[in-house]
Amino acid sequence: MSDDVEFEGEIEARLSEQEYFRPPAKFVGQANVSDPAIHDRFGDEWPHGFEEYAELLDWESRWDETLDASNPPFYEWFVGGELNACYNCVDRHLDERKNQVALLWEGEGGDRSHLTYQDLYREVNRMAAALRTMGVEEDDVVTLHLPMVPALPITMLACARIGAPHSEVFAGFSASALAQRIDDADSDVVVTIDGYYRRGELLNHKQKADQAVEEADTDVDTVLVWERHEGDLHDDVDVVEDRDVLVTDLKADHDRARVDPVTRNAEDPLFLMYTSGTTGQPKGCQHRTGGYLSYVTGTSKYVLDIKPEDTYWCAADIGWITGHSYIVYGPLALGTTSVMYEGAPDHPHKGRIWEIAEKYDVDIFHTSPTAVRMFMKWGPEYPEEYDFDFRHMTTVGEPIQPEAWLWYYKYIGGEDAVIVDTWWQTETGGHLITNLPALDDMKPGSAGKPCPGIQPAIYDDNGNPVEAASGKAGNLVIEKPWPGMLQTVYGDDERFVDEYWRDFSDTNSDDMADWVYKAGDGAVHERDGYFRILGRLDDVMNVAGHRLGTMELESAVAEVEEVAEAAVAAREDAEKGEVPDVYVVLREGIEPSEAVRNGIVRAVEEEIGKFARPANVVFVDDLPKTRSGKIMRRLLEDISNDQDLGDTTTLRDPSVPEQIRDLVHGD
Ligand code: PRX
Repeated sequence: MSDDVEFEGEIEARLSEQEYFRPPAKFVGQANVSDPAIHDRFGDEWPHGFEEYAELLDWESRWDETLDASNPPFYEWFVGGELNACYNCVDRHLDERKNQVALLWEGEGGDRSHLTYQDLYREVNRMAAALRTMGVEEDDVVTLHLPMVPALPITMLACARIGAPHSEVFAGFSASALAQRIDDADSDVVVTIDGYYRRGELLNHKQKADQAVEEADTDVDTVLVWERHEGDLHDDVDVVEDRDVLVTDLKADHDRARVDPVTRNAEDPLFLMYTSGTTGQPKGCQHRTGGYLSYVTGTSKYVLDIKPEDTYWCAADIGWITGHSYIVYGPLALGTTSVMYEGAPDHPHKGRIWEIAEKYDVDIFHTSPTAVRMFMKWGPEYPEEYDFDFRHMTTVGEPIQPEAWLWYYKYIGGEDAVIVDTWWQTETGGHLITNLPALDDMKPGSAGKPCPGIQPAIYDDNGNPVEAASGKAGNLVIEKPWPGMLQTVYGDDERFVDEYWRDFSDTNSDDMADWVYKAGDGAVHERDGYFRILGRLDDVMNVAGHRLGTMELESAVAEVEEVAEAAVAAREDAEKGEVPDVYVVLREGIEPSEAVRNGIVRAVEEEIGKFARPANVVFVDDLPKTRSGKIMRRLLEDISNDQDLGDTTTLRDPSVPEQIRDLVHGD
């Protein structure tokens, strides 16, 4: 069960001060949804309202049943339907817009590639043929470790075309993290690239795949290697004979190949996306073809207001769920032009994002609160220098402070763009709580109302529903299933039930009404019906929009020889939202030193990736523990955040937290 929820009073006090902002009339006049009846339609006819999303797609055979809920929580959506996701994102647009740009890619150094739908069709067919030649068959999981280059969506779509679920691992993940995911998915084909640019440097990216293949228990027999500069392999990259194949060569062999899209059952998996949970082992969230694609297409249309003629830019990384759903699948299914950017937002200068927005005349812009806070810190002079005009803006991934929201609204949106704050998760596939932009007023810092057909609620720690719209904080749950939800945790149905359902469901029941999805977040259902998300209640933190498990960090630190014991606490950070503080007890006879500290930081970089680097390493004599030996991370969090210590009476040694506090903050 989740920890106690303590923040109620504070939240309520802050809330009442927020004002509402009306969506601009010029937005409302052209919005994809401007009729409030949509909520009734989805509510009254639940679950049939979701068919409206499915009907945005082309199906080879229509479904017989919208939802089969006979075996909760293993719901089945659009049962009996058949379709292909790649066909829906590419082929079906050729008649109407073959020469419209599908992917507008901007490289860090200013090189660019504009792939029309026809180009994308050709590229995806070549890659699909290449994968087949390498022995990839329907239902084989293909692991991708690709950065923000066109190779990534091309490979994803090629996999979807031949019915091979892809498992993309964010390029910032280390070799060890990649190896762990290769093993969990038992995936024997890996797709990588020789290098990509980060702040002017062409990194050797392939070396991580090389090391991962060494480390993995799975026998990876094929590594496909894209080249950042086609035909010009990175100087430092090794090619392993009989295992590595250059995509450039394969593409040449399959230059004019055409591969028929494989007919997939609506319930066949489309992809895996690993995410952090409360244990050290990341979970492979398995997403289905029909329900997922319907849901992300529907929400891209209704929430993001995407139209085919728009230029849409989601500045997330495709390596995370946001990019899967809202750079690749949703936008391309709608036939729009989706922008991708390779590099850092401040390279070669801090106006880079706005320069691109101006250059392509972006209509819809999508980013994270961490990015907004960073732009805010850099100052309004950068966006002010460029001439761009967004109609619609999104935030995703973390709570946004009203102050940052107001800045985004004023300096980026020019006070005439609508903003949606979208709450969802890797597991949910698409948005669950956010306003439909033309229908509801915006309220800074509040994700807003539930999406059509979604039924969130707040439960107390005993599993009882808290009165709706009562302004009280508690556990955020979702009471009814939705088509975008994960099917299961890959290969581990039991873990799926344990992680998401057990706490608030009657797991012996086969009645859907007894099954309630636990999001792991705390939230308040405000009196106006808006949901305000407070953050994770479990041992998961959110570092600059990247989800990290404290257990993963702790096991990385525990690998360091000098470390006897470690605990990780999330510290609030003005820019990144949260950062990890590591509290370490060293082995007998080892003295704290810069070398040990560096070793700990290096271990985290190697086990997980540089983005997970600890902010502080604190050497302590002991960790706060209960009498039964459980580490009380909550107390460490209080110390990291310089807050009053919670209850210490149950500790084995109640003086420990005070000692640590003195160490961190002085007497
Ligand atoms: O804590 C919530 C936070 O991000 C978590 C999900 O992370 P991930 O699976 O990586 O997906 C991120 C992109 C959807 C949630 O449990 N979160 C996500 N969106 C918001 C948010 N917190 C507050 N406001 C949001 N809009």
